[in-house]
Amino acid sequence: MKYNPFKPGSIVHPGMFAGRLTEIHEIEKLLFQTKNGNSSSFLIHGERGIGKSSLLFYINAVAKGEISPDDGANFNFLVISVSLEPHDTYKDIIYKIAREYDRELKKNEKIKATLKEVWEFITNWEIMGVKYQKVKEELDAEVMLEELTEKTISVLEKTNNTLDGIYIFIDEADKPFSNPNLGVLSKYMTERIHKKGIQNFGIGIIGISSVIEKIKESHESALRIFSYYNLEPLNLPERKIVIELGLDAAKEKNDKETAINEDAKNIIARWSEGYPHFLQQYAYSTFEVDIDDKITKEDVFRGLIMENGALHQLGVRYFDNMYFKEIYSEDYRKILQVMAAHDDEYISKKTIIAQTGLKEYTVQNAITACAKKGILSLKPGRRGMYKLISNSFRVWILTYANAVNKKE
Ligand SMILES: Nc1ncnc2c1ncn2[C@@H]1O[C@H](COP(=O)(O)OP(=O)(O)OP(=O)(O)O)[C@@H](O)[C@H]1O
Ligand SMILES: [Mg+2]
Repeated sequence: MKYNPFKPGSIVHPGMFAGRLTEIHEIEKLLFQTKNGNSSSFLIHGERGIGKSSLLFYINAVAKGEISPDDGANFNFLVISVSLEPHDTYKDIIYKIAREYDRELKKNEKIKATLKEVWEFITNWEIMGVKYQKVKEELDAEVMLEELTEKTISVLEKTNNTLDGIYIFIDEADKPFSNPNLGVLSKYMTERIHKKGIQNFGIGIIGISSVIEKIKESHESALRIFSYYNLEPLNLPERKIVIELGLDAAKEKNDKETAINEDAKNIIARWSEGYPHFLQQYAYSTFEVDIDDKITKEDVFRGLIMENGALHQLGVRYFDNMYFKEIYSEDYRKILQVMAAHDDEYISKKTIIAQTGLKEYTVQNAITACAKKGILSLKPGRRGMYKLISNSFRVWILTYANAVNKKE
């Protein structure tokens, strides 16, 4: 058996992390500002699977001082990191942050010693006689938020010499079905803390781009608190670094090298279109099928189409949902079929109408709905030209979705 270093389904750890140098550098500057009394919050957004959580994981390590920035700076923040789920309400989120707070504080002996006098107040959520578990049921969200903020202020005041400050990181902020009210939460916490003359506190929010709109709905002027980072696909050299970092890690664990020729590396890099989740999947499946420790383009092709290979996996994880669940209408699927049959290029609405035989308004409605759901993209600067969101999705439609359609 061979250890496969690629990670199509989970966050990449900092040792295998490639690219994002600009974003990391910019966010390190924000941490430095906060540490020095200029509170700086950030919002990282981008498409599904573009690498937001992996970047946050890296920043988390920087903020805690586990990784040092290149310029010799070093951080020692208390980081409270939570990840939201579909059913989380506003109250759940405040409670989640409070619980994580508790955990982080209890784990840190140095802080524990510093907070000796206020320890009970900080870690005891039996506020107003209400038991810890019941806090959520019996208190208003406003009271909980106020309490959380007061505790944060106490910790910040007491740990001025031990800590650089506190950051709250909220990942998967787009997940809750109901608006998680992060605009109100961010605005209230930062302003109230600020009013006490404390500035070394910040918030990091991470989610797909729609999260910005949700924050705005929650509190119009909350948007001003953040600096924004939109993650784009990785560039070609970065994609190759991901493959190389993986093969280096494999060499170490397997005590033997798996080599890859330039041809195979280029194909994986190109097919991925810079989306790290595609990249990891193609590299993973290719590594799996290789038997002679020399990865060639034949391995890449086999890894793509073999049973349970890359296309199948991506299908189950993403495409199936996009094609069968997010789209209810057979007519809409017909449009995607026509688009898939064209090479990876933009096609006009006129062509779609001609080749599907559908009415103009049906096509227009389909385009609007699919663009909103991130299933197709619009050509920048040109009206009426569209293509599928990725070539991987296109190839999947041509192979898998067609096969399923025929079976039905
Ligand atoms: N910079 C990177 N270098 C190498 N691999 C990466 C990088 N960023 C992400 N990945 C890989 O890409 C995949 C998706 O990453 P991640 O989960 O961080 O994305 P995400 O944007 O948080 O996704 P989601 O929208 O589903 O929350 C994972 O398999 C991860 O290992
Ligand atoms: Mg994520």
